Amino acid sequence: MGKFFITTPIYYVNDVPHIGHAYTTIAADVLARFHRWLGDDVFFLTGTDEHGVNIYQVASAQGVDPRDWVDRIAAEFKRAWAELLISNDYFIRTTDARHEAGVRAFMERLYASGDIYKGRYEGKYCVNCERFYSEDELVDGLCPIHLRPPVWYAEDNYFFRLSKYADRLIAAIEDPEDPNHYEVEPPARRNEVLGKIRAGLLDISISRAIPWGVPLPFDPDQTVYVWVDALLNYITAIGFHDPAAFDRYWPADLHLMAKDIIWFHAVIWPALLLAVGLRPPRRVFAHGFFTVNGQKMSKTLGNVIRPGDLVRRFGVDATRWLLLSQFPFGQDGDISEGLMAQRYNAELANDLGNLVNRTVAMVNRYCEGVIPEPGPEEGPDGELKAAAVEAGQAFQAALAALDFSGAIAAINGLVARTNRYIEETAPWNLSRTDRRRLGTVLYNQAEVLRVLGHLVTPFMPETARTICRYIGVELDLSRPPAETVRWGQLPPRVRVEAAPKPLFPRI
Ligand code: MSP
Repeated sequence: MGKFFITTPIYYVNDVPHIGHAYTTIAADVLARFHRWLGDDVFFLTGTDEHGVNIYQVASAQGVDPRDWVDRIAAEFKRAWAELLISNDYFIRTTDARHEAGVRAFMERLYASGDIYKGRYEGKYCVNCERFYSEDELVDGLCPIHLRPPVWYAEDNYFFRLSKYADRLIAAIEDPEDPNHYEVEPPARRNEVLGKIRAGLLDISISRAIPWGVPLPFDPDQTVYVWVDALLNYITAIGFHDPAAFDRYWPADLHLMAKDIIWFHAVIWPALLLAVGLRPPRRVFAHGFFTVNGQKMSKTLGNVIRPGDLVRRFGVDATRWLLLSQFPFGQDGDISEGLMAQRYNAELANDLGNLVNRTVAMVNRYCEGVIPEPGPEEGPDGELKAAAVEAGQAFQAALAALDFSGAIAAINGLVARTNRYIEETAPWNLSRTDRRRLGTVLYNQAEVLRVLGHLVTPFMPETARTICRYIGVELDLSRPPAETVRWGQLPPRVRVEAAPKPLFPRI
């Protein structure tokens, strides 16, 4: 047991949330729920990034005051996360007065560090990324992420001496004994980041001459560069001003994001922290980027999927499960609604849903709705029990490694083994030939449901409750997973749900 401070990126409010944002946020939520179950003191942070050139322009283009615009879109993010059962402990907005005060305080400390100087910046800037690109980073002259032409910026700005930190960053990433050690994952991203640092770091401009942002305390004519403003959310949210509160959670245990913004999190952010004498986060993990039906998701292509679209089709729990099971976390992948529907029917409606419903139905039909007392172990019982134990262990190991599809596979494996157990033991025959054996078999089936009901919790919090209720117990997350899933804890003689509804109606 310890503390676990986990973050998602704070998302730009240039548009309402899509399933790219939902993907990272659901992944973080699964981990937050898992760590709460482990007994950790969890702080799960998400929020919105509301300053910068892009948002200012988007609001102006709509003829809306930026303040009204960001209020409106931030509310949409909050609504979307509530709909997806995201259990964040705090939702930060960079326009919050408390955040802005924290940004000013940090910038004063940074200025005092002596790593800030005034200079002139000229270069190509992608307004959507809110960052400069060098010629060799552009692809055919376009931003590699947004495939749009950058604009030329030339301004007098304040600079941060990032170049000075190259050696300290390399040591902090590579040496587990370094007092500022942090992990950059997965390995491909780590190598990429180290390679780029070794190739040389340029100082970065940390201010802009635009009105929509936090004024620099040492030069109010400029505002803090939106990326610096945004990164600071990770410390202002936990009370940068208040050392007692701050030390409870800092350093962050995991910054989660996609690979598009790994550079900011694995290089610029740790350097800014080192400059003011704070520890870098412990772990920065960048998952892959996904396309939708093989295409980049974009408004122009009209293929943007909103979280609500999936929720209406599959329900909340299945949406969470299906999004994380499409491809391995950490790799690039593709989301196809067709494949999601296939998987929904196969994995959730047929395998898991059917297992739950047929088990409860058998207890109702053969045992008057009461879970029977188990008899001595026989035949495949031992194997079923072993499968349940193994699934519990594999599930935990997978989530500790951020392997969501692995955790899902562990659950599916137990479901498949149990469905096979039912075919092997044929309770419908036992009901006529051997009531005692029937009792054992049905007890074992129900006990697997208890284990499964708990294991699915981080992914499918409502389904977890329903499965438990169907077998007459309450979801109990008060003890850590290893204890909860230990075999044989289902109390016999409890009453199961008399008329269970299908968990996942076929579509
Ligand atoms: N505001 C910055 C982040 C500041 S954090 C201090 C930003 N915002 S964003 O709205 O563009 O969000 C980018 C993030 O959204 C990605 O890193 C990822 O978490 C998520 N994704 C957006 N589209 C995605 C995919 N197509 N695939 C995977 N993740 C996606 O960058």
